[in-house]
Amino acid sequence: MADVDEILTKAVIPAAGLGTRFLPATKATPKEMLPVVDTPAIQLVVEEAVAAGLDDVLMVTGRNKRPLEDHFDIAAELETTLEAKGDTERLHLVQRSADLASVHYVRQGEPKGLGHAVLCAARHVGHEAFAVLLGDDLIDPRDPLLTRMIDVRRRLGGSVVALMEVPREQIHLYGCAAVDVLPGEDDDVVRVTDLVEKPSIEEAPSSYAVIGRYVLDPSVFTVLEKTEPGRGGEIQLTDALRTLAHDVEPGAGGGVTGVVFRGRRYDTGDRLSYLQAVVRLACEREDLGPELRAWLKEFVQTL
Ligand code: G1P
Repeated sequence: MADVDEILTKAVIPAAGLGTRFLPATKATPKEMLPVVDTPAIQLVVEEAVAAGLDDVLMVTGRNKRPLEDHFDIAAELETTLEAKGDTERLHLVQRSADLASVHYVRQGEPKGLGHAVLCAARHVGHEAFAVLLGDDLIDPRDPLLTRMIDVRRRLGGSVVALMEVPREQIHLYGCAAVDVLPGEDDDVVRVTDLVEKPSIEEAPSSYAVIGRYVLDPSVFTVLEKTEPGRGGEIQLTDALRTLAHDVEPGAGGGVTGVVFRGRRYDTGDRLSYLQAVVRLACEREDLGPELRAWLKEFVQTL
């Protein structure tokens, strides 16, 4: 239901994946802890949630994810050492991740897909609308997407997905949305009429890819419970959203809106795009950027 006064506080971050694309780095370290310059990718995602007002974060984890819990907890020994040295700058860096949000954990147990991971959050979330943030997608804080999606949810109700136009030959890597205009809305807000998980070029209804940000109506849980395994034998969030996109009975929580994102997004999901993200972000940093850019210019001449 639309409710302009609705306050969203909860974010769900699926983090149970094995990170096989980054082996051997991820043999004993969760992929979410891989540094983007000097900050674990997962911290950037939590910072994004907090910036949109969502400071109750539930991570859906699995085995070997203990470093995530340690990262968002106080580190007494390290803090005492830094304090004794008078290194306040690093002390603040260490304290920041523990102070950011109220972080909770639930285990997924079996790797049954993204839809199943979201379903694991049902108890914690209850009957409120909530956001889902996928850790492989980083959104530049200068181009706030989640805030826009929350605003759309408040005004229109239902669920909201983030869409980005991608070259058609890449659409098989994403959920794909069929869209229609929404009269009275800006051109970045569209009605989602259908969704297909990772279609072939021929099957794809458009070039709009679902990127890893969702604002979901709690009715998604009831739908997920009944959603059969889909692509890859996994319970797909895209399939549950498809049901919600078709089911637009007033008051039932259905209806899916898309927010078309045209800002800066960094993909850390595979090795090449991860390296590109790190270089791009490091180039923009005040402390590292000037030297790195100068070196890169020289380095490319040698290629
Ligand atoms: C997941 C979703 C897919 C979405 C993508 C965004 O896929 O299933 O619909 O487009 O995230 O990054 P994954 O990349 O986890 O295979």
